[in-house]
Amino acid sequence: MTARARTLTPGLVSALSPSATGSPAAGATGSTGPSSRPTDGPARVVVDLDLPGATISRHLYGHFAEHLGRCIYEGFYVGEDSEIPNTRGIRDDVVAALRALQIPNLRWPGGCFADDYHWKDGIGPREQRPRMVNSHWGDIVEDNSFGTHEFMDLVELLGTEAYVNGNVGSGTVAEMSEWIEYLTRADDSPMASLRRENGRDEPWKVPFFGIGNEAWGCGGNMRADDYAALARQYSTYVRDQGGDPGNTVTRIAAGASDDDFAWTEALMRAVTNLDEREGRAGPYQAISMHYYTMSGPWGDKGSATEFSEEEWYRTLSRAARAEELVARHATVMDHYDPHKKVGLVFDEWGTWWNVEPGTNPGFLYQQNTVRDALVASIHFDGFHRHADRLMMANIAQTVNVLQAMILTDPDTGALVLTPTYHVFAMNAGHQDARALAAHVLLPEEPAEVDGRVLPMISASASTTGSTALISLSNLDHAQERTLVLDLRGRTVTGHTARVLTGATSAAHNTPDQPDAVAPAELTDVREHDRGLEITLPAHSFVTVELQLGA
Ligand code: AHR
Repeated sequence: MTARARTLTPGLVSALSPSATGSPAAGATGSTGPSSRPTDGPARVVVDLDLPGATISRHLYGHFAEHLGRCIYEGFYVGEDSEIPNTRGIRDDVVAALRALQIPNLRWPGGCFADDYHWKDGIGPREQRPRMVNSHWGDIVEDNSFGTHEFMDLVELLGTEAYVNGNVGSGTVAEMSEWIEYLTRADDSPMASLRRENGRDEPWKVPFFGIGNEAWGCGGNMRADDYAALARQYSTYVRDQGGDPGNTVTRIAAGASDDDFAWTEALMRAVTNLDEREGRAGPYQAISMHYYTMSGPWGDKGSATEFSEEEWYRTLSRAARAEELVARHATVMDHYDPHKKVGLVFDEWGTWWNVEPGTNPGFLYQQNTVRDALVASIHFDGFHRHADRLMMANIAQTVNVLQAMILTDPDTGALVLTPTYHVFAMNAGHQDARALAAHVLLPEEPAEVDGRVLPMISASASTTGSTALISLSNLDHAQERTLVLDLRGRTVTGHTARVLTGATSAAHNTPDQPDAVAPAELTDVREHDRGLEITLPAHSFVTVELQLGA
């Protein structure tokens, strides 16, 4: 039997219960879950500064832009004739705000849209481009004025890396094969020549390519094994072009929703070259997963701005579930892939609320409060703990859709940075740093919320060698929390701290009040025998940067 034919027994899949793979109780080491240990003393976060673990890929801070609502059009792209300052139609203020975040990658064009998208409709003179119906998102007509060249221009303006998502659901193998040739081939091949006719001489770099999206749903309603076979076939034709070692593509198979571990298992069974330590896995090198956080059921996800204390805690508990899911998908992957050659790509995550009243239900426009900021910080804490398997993550979505970094006013065009944006900014120092375990010790028994133990402090840490960054979230809706940072293993020679909170847990930013929720310096950080003592305001996110001695 080959490695490919090995199967996890159904019993093993069902045995991957939270307690087997990183429940709060099992996660007391800080390496597997949002965890806390009881302590008699003050609340403590213990960090071993001299024991760096896996590198936290910068790609865990990735982004996603779909042809959905006002994300691409109005959000990123306003056209060259717009009064809003732009470069070749792309908003300058949006680019500047995202460059400040050092966004490492951008996924495009979907999402569900990707499996309806035919890339050749989006090249050549704009006035001659065919139109199509965006059937998933508002059933509106898409004029294809933002296509491959505009996206790659955006990528270059942002100084980021491209994650292009291909079409399996309604596309062809040839179409996908030609797209990667068009994008990345240098010589005078047919597609490279076509690219030149359209004004671009040099090939672009496309390090990440998605093989369809949500194939179990909007991407074709497929069964796992049927899709796995297609993923092998399509991936084969997404070739590394022209022998340029800098243009090696990581192919990402469309992965599971939520806790569909059987889907992950089917994809892992279909990967080859996993037993040998050497060489790449193939024909795809990564698989994705999607999970969204909401406070209600799918049919009534809850308001973004009007929520009870109970909904606050339920939301944060559901955000913490993301880490549990990562741990359990990773456990399935470990069974097939002991050398960790296949990356896990969490390429859709974040809050999904009912749309703002009065907006198009198909456009998924929602506000973004302190609660969203803590949903993000909880996700990042979990991502850092699973940096050995998690290769990339992409919040959904960057501008004007779901848990956005940036909201733009439809009438005036005014730009607002959301609380979630500020979490990305405050956490930027974790990118490509090495994870440090952060053990949370709390005086009280943590409460159970929505079937999950939810400690009131979430924490993670990393080091670059000469510095360390500690992220701390106070999930308590109403109470401030004083805790000791118990810093071991290295000398701390200096520190600075920042805090993000609002007057209420539902505080958010608007064009009239753009800084209702904005980071501020936290000066009241006290020296303590064990390290530092710090008070986190209720519903707040804090980062502490340490300078380390030898
Ligand atoms: O992000 C919005 C949608 O959510 C995406 O298009 C789809 O992949 C997912 O269901």
